[in-house]
Amino acid sequence: MSVTKEIKRITTETLRKMKFEGEKIAMLTAYDFTMSTLVDAAGIEIILVGDSASNVMAGHETTLPITLDQMIYHAQCVVRGAKRALVVVDLPFGTYQSDPQKALDSAVRIMKESGAHAIKLEGGKEIEESIRRIVNAGIPVMGHLGLTPQSIYQFGSYKVRAKDGAEANKLLEDAQLLEQLGCFSLVMEKIPAELATQVTQSITIPTIGIGAGAGTDGQVLVIHDMLGLNNEFKPKFVRRYLNMEDQMHQAIGQFITDVKDSSFPNANEQY
Ligand code: KIV
Repeated sequence: MSVTKEIKRITTETLRKMKFEGEKIAMLTAYDFTMSTLVDAAGIEIILVGDSASNVMAGHETTLPITLDQMIYHAQCVVRGAKRALVVVDLPFGTYQSDPQKALDSAVRIMKESGAHAIKLEGGKEIEESIRRIVNAGIPVMGHLGLTPQSIYQFGSYKVRAKDGAEANKLLEDAQLLEQLGCFSLVMEKIPAELATQVTQSITIPTIGIGAGAGTDGQVLVIHDMLGLNNEFKPKFVRRYLNMEDQMHQAIGQFITDVKDSSFPNANEQY
């Protein structure tokens, strides 16, 4: 008799409980089936189909060009690989800022066409009505404050945000507003650790940091960064767990050598 163990899906409720119990939340990005399967099997709680796909998958300089159709395609691939993790998908630039009905339509398309479990969007007070609409439709929403890459041309650089009193106060107010609006979680990117800790302690929803210090309820990294797939991108907040760029160079170089000197395939590698 074979006994198959049922895998229990991580939910927004699981995450809330983890914050309450002081257990840290681990989140990584993925954009395709293979990576999603690996990350999920390793035990990650949240997989983010980030609009960073625009950079690391499509080779754009910013996250702005990626479209809703492209995000849905990446999300479909990731959902097929994720048996346990909660899959969150970024609403891309231009699909939610202009009006709340458009925001709801974009979020509904992601949920219906990809099978993902939640959406993420960038901003606070300015997109209050859009968040309200999406939450009221029963779609879990993750907020994103601090360095919000979709606003890069307004910021002018990828420098640390909310270092001064006014911007820090607005971030704290926005975080509290996102909680009131019913967001289930909040990403804070590249802000002072002290501020991120203060925000985390002032709201009951879990916070996930990237370049926001150790005081948040969880941490997120772009998978290409933590696997060392791009040696040129070296921000202080990234910890490299592998040096895949060098390992891949070596492996691919060896393949080329083996083909050229006819040592591949050998007698055991043919029919
Ligand atoms: O798109 C993304 O990968 C993100 C993370 C950096 C949080 O939003």
